[in-house]
Amino acid sequence: MYGMIHQAARDLAVAHLGEAEWERLVETSGLNGRHFIGFEYYSDAETMRIVGLIADRLGCSMAETFYLFGRTWIDFAGTSAYGRVLCMAGGDLETFISNLDRMHASIKSNMPKASLPGFEVVESRDGAIHVLYRSEREGLAPFVHGILSAVAERFGERVTIDYEARPGGALFVLARQPVNA
Ligand code: HEM
Repeated sequence: MYGMIHQAARDLAVAHLGEAEWERLVETSGLNGRHFIGFEYYSDAETMRIVGLIADRLGCSMAETFYLFGRTWIDFAGTSAYGRVLCMAGGDLETFISNLDRMHASIKSNMPKASLPGFEVVESRDGAIHVLYRSEREGLAPFVHGILSAVAERFGERVTIDYEARPGGALFVLARQPVNA
């Protein structure tokens, strides 16, 4: 994955561990500045190794770490060169999700090697949005879970989010909580 993802993982680690602990982790695990170049492309194995090192140090599972990572991704992306892209993606949760593929496609010109996810709103009724997430990768549903929960908060929506695996991805259900719950 592109180094931008590594940079966001580093920010997450520094926020939880502090700068000194992060420096120690970098020194003891063979990481260095070359692993954190935004427009450099790295193998998924390398990305998973970095997230795995952070997970170990946090004492969290990979799934928990990807969830935490997803929670902070929007803030990271929002302050990156792509902040503007986020603002253009829609003014409410469902529109935003419907625009995600277009949004990712718009970064593809700068990141041609990216393998980007697909999101499709397959149903929306009774206060619940059903979203099909498709990916060529395994294990990133918790990342999506974290991002969607942060995005819902951005739009002032209180939702509970569940998902189950589907071939090539996962089906997410975002259910709005009753106002007086
Ligand atoms: C400005 C906002 C965003 C930017 C700049 C951005 C950019 C990126 C980039 C660079 C990658 C790596 C692809 C690769 O290297 O192969 C990626 C992957 C991904 N993005 Fe985004 N993204 C943004 C917002 C979102 C949002 C709102 C979601 C919602 C869930 C999302 C979900 C994902 C997922 C799940 C992946 C992993 C790829 C996969 O599942 O196979 N992104 N994105």
